[in-house]
Amino acid sequence: MTVANNTVWEYTRAGRLSSTIAQAARAIPEPGPSELVIQVRAAALNPVDEQLAQSPPSLLSFLGCAIPSPSKPLVPTSDFAGVVVASKSAAYVVGDEVYGQRFSADGNGFLATYVKVEASAPFVKKPKGLGWTDAAAVPLVYTTVYDALVEWGRLSMGGEEGLSVLVLGGSSGTGHVAVQMAKKMGCNVVASCSGKNAEMVKSLGADEIIDYTTQNVPQAALMSRYAPYAVVLDCVGGTDLLPDLDNLLLDSPQRPELGIYVTIVGDKTSRDAMGGAATNLYTPAQAVRTVLGRLNDHLPRWTRGWTGRRYACIKLNPSKDKLESYEKFMEEGGKVIVDSVWPFGKAREAYERLESARAKGKVVVEVSK
Ligand SMILES: NC(=O)c1ccc[n+]([C@@H]2O[C@H](COP(=O)([O-])OP(=O)(O)OC[C@H]3O[C@@H](n4cnc5c(N)ncnc54)[C@H](OP(=O)(O)O)[C@@H]3O)[C@@H](O)[C@H]2O)c1
Repeated sequence: MTVANNTVWEYTRAGRLSSTIAQAARAIPEPGPSELVIQVRAAALNPVDEQLAQSPPSLLSFLGCAIPSPSKPLVPTSDFAGVVVASKSAAYVVGDEVYGQRFSADGNGFLATYVKVEASAPFVKKPKGLGWTDAAAVPLVYTTVYDALVEWGRLSMGGEEGLSVLVLGGSSGTGHVAVQMAKKMGCNVVASCSGKNAEMVKSLGADEIIDYTTQNVPQAALMSRYAPYAVVLDCVGGTDLLPDLDNLLLDSPQRPELGIYVTIVGDKTSRDAMGGAATNLYTPAQAVRTVLGRLNDHLPRWTRGWTGRRYACIKLNPSKDKLESYEKFMEEGGKVIVDSVWPFGKAREAYERLESARAKGKVVVEVSK
């Protein structure tokens, strides 16, 4: 029997979530085969929530995402930490403390007190010692950075001394994790951020800061004593550095697999427009660059004169394995910084903070105690 005491934040029209979400009561879901119901303790907000909420219906439909309407209210956000309260999976029992993500493109997000998830979704048991709000902050940014540096960047989790990584957006939710991960790999790290965040980014391991508010970022990146870079990871977006890839990216006969520009945003600079790999669909120059960038993976180095350099505009590819590696990252002193924690009743204010584009680390909502 279902009970109507599941409180959710939902939206029924396009627009900024700080002005469109409203509280509603729903029934507590019941698990189907191989599903669980989670009592959500904390949920982290992500720019993609806003991008989904502000995309035109035609794009949402093309991408297979749900379209908000009064007859189909959508609950935003993908990152969560919570307790299993019902399970039809042998892998989890009632009382298990878990954290992870499930992409909320279908509108069944985690700004809700109870959510049903498939046991196969990329969530795992929460390490002891990781609090609820800290845990919710981890999944999307950690997995994205792992994908960018390890899967696409082909760096390994240690022993990369002498190599350099450039992180654009070193204070952002994703960028501050990238600074730490690259440092733990043994790399020299150059990061762009504003002067007011420089100390924080340095304290996370950046060897050199480029202040994007006062310096020319491409020029400073090229002039750095740490250039050229095994990976340039762009967490900001735009095309400013693309004309200089030949000089920015490492070209090593000993490590020919290195030297890539990985963007998690794409050529666009608007925070409200959908980013990542989806932008290849409507940015022809980027799509061509992506194809040529991928060709570089399969062709000999001498072909670079006409294919350009390795380039990828990526979409994260979450998995339980990747998230499980966070425990080691944490034990070695790594952390996902939480910019601010908001009570459930103040989810609109939490989205305002995300929309400001000034957050240092993650914006988190405490959903239940
Ligand atoms: N493709 C994927 O799978 C994927 C996954 C995760 C995220 N993303 C995308 O990646 C982007 C970043 O996400 P996020 O959560 O990391 O963002 P975020 O934390 O909301 O970004 C805000 C931060 O960015 C800094 N910033 C703003 N403009 C900057 C600039 N021009 N140069 C350097 N720093 C700048 C701000 O610092 P100041 O206050 O100093 O300006 C602030 O600390 C978003 O577009 C998101 O959608 C994509």
